[in-house]
Parts: sequence; structure tokens; C-alpha cells
Amino acid sequence: MSEPSQPQQGSIEIVDSYLSAPEIANRIADLAREITAAGPFEKPLVVVCVLKGSFLFFADLVRRLDLPCNCVFLGVSSYGGTTESSGAVRLTHDLTLDIADRDVLIVEDIVDTGLTMSYLLTILGARRPRTLRVCTLLHKPARKRVDVQLDYIGFTIEDVFVVGYGLDYDERYRNLPYIGAMRFEPA
Ligand code: IMP
Repeated sequence: MSEPSQPQQGSIEIVDSYLSAPEIANRIADLAREITAAGPFEKPLVVVCVLKGSFLFFADLVRRLDLPCNCVFLGVSSYGGTTESSGAVRLTHDLTLDIADRDVLIVEDIVDTGLTMSYLLTILGARRPRTLRVCTLLHKPARKRVDVQLDYIGFTIEDVFVVGYGLDYDERYRNLPYIGAMRFEPA
């Protein structure tokens, strides 16, 4: 995972506004229209919320889909607690639905190195869905380590560490209604 500039002893965290709540809402409306236009599907679209980071994006996106949907949740924990990407992704909560022969959309908050998404595509692809697509709110191509198929992208962003609207730093800031860029300054 990318990190904000390293905190020094006693430094303070600054969050600068990066994407406003209205900008996010407008883009989600566009994404929802695109996804809806790909239907109708034979059975309800299985929409997978990747926890925890995509919980707000998922909630706003599914409310704008004009399609029958099954909402399901998948918990993943990246990198076993360290902040540098090792590629080790752990499943903490599995789907409660069989996705064989179903149209499936993975909803993710951010694709950074791509390692988490690559893992998700491998494990969900092995369950033989009819189609498997990816919608990510943010894409940070500067840090890409593996190529992954991204069917719907909200915003392509620079190499900044972002928080808010579901995204955290040290489990904080998830509840901000906008996305901020984080940095540290000496106190
Ligand atoms: P990846 O496996 O490197 O693509 O990163 C996936 C996960 O790392 C995301 O689902 C986020 O939880 C986390 N992550 C990556 N970049 C950021 C960021 O800028 N802010 C907060 N979390 C991030």
C-alpha cells in the first residue's frame, strides 16, 4: 500500500480536499448508468462489496443501479498488517452466495499495486461466474505492479495517499464524506 510522507515524532496529519462529495456523487451516477446499460442480465447482478474500504462507494453505487441486484460482501485484509505491499492478501469473510454461472461485479475502493484485485479475480474466477467485471472508484496507475482488468473506473489519480469516503489511514478517516489527500507536517 502507498503511504503518506512518513510521520515524524510529534508530526501532525493534514488532509487536503482532493475530490468533493458532489464530484464523487456525479461520477457515481455516470458509472451506475454505464453498468445499468450493460444489462439486463438473466439473473440479478451479483454486486460484491470489498470490505472495508468500499462500503460507502458500494452503498451509493447500488442505490443508483437500475437493475435487479444481489448485494454480497467479501472481506479482505491486505499485507498482513504491514504497510508495504507484499502481495499477501487474506480472505477474512467469504461470499454467502454461489456465483457459478452468475454475472458478477466486484466493487473496490482503490486499485493501487493491483495485487488485491489480481487475487480477487483469481479466487472469484475459479468459481466459474458467467461474467466477472470490476468497478473501482479510484485507480492509482503510478504504483501498478500487476496488470488487472478494470472495466469501470471512477477517477484515475496521481500517486497521493488518499483517505475518506471509506478509505482509511490507520483505521481512521473512513467516515469523511469526501476524499482527501494526506500529508504530514512537523508540529
Ligand atoms: P493494492 O493491492 O496495492 O492495489 O491495494 C489495495 C488496497 O490498499 C486498497 O483496497 C486499500 O485498502 C489500500 N490502499 C491503497 N492505496 C491507498 C490509499 O491511497 N489510501 C488508503 N488505502 C489505500
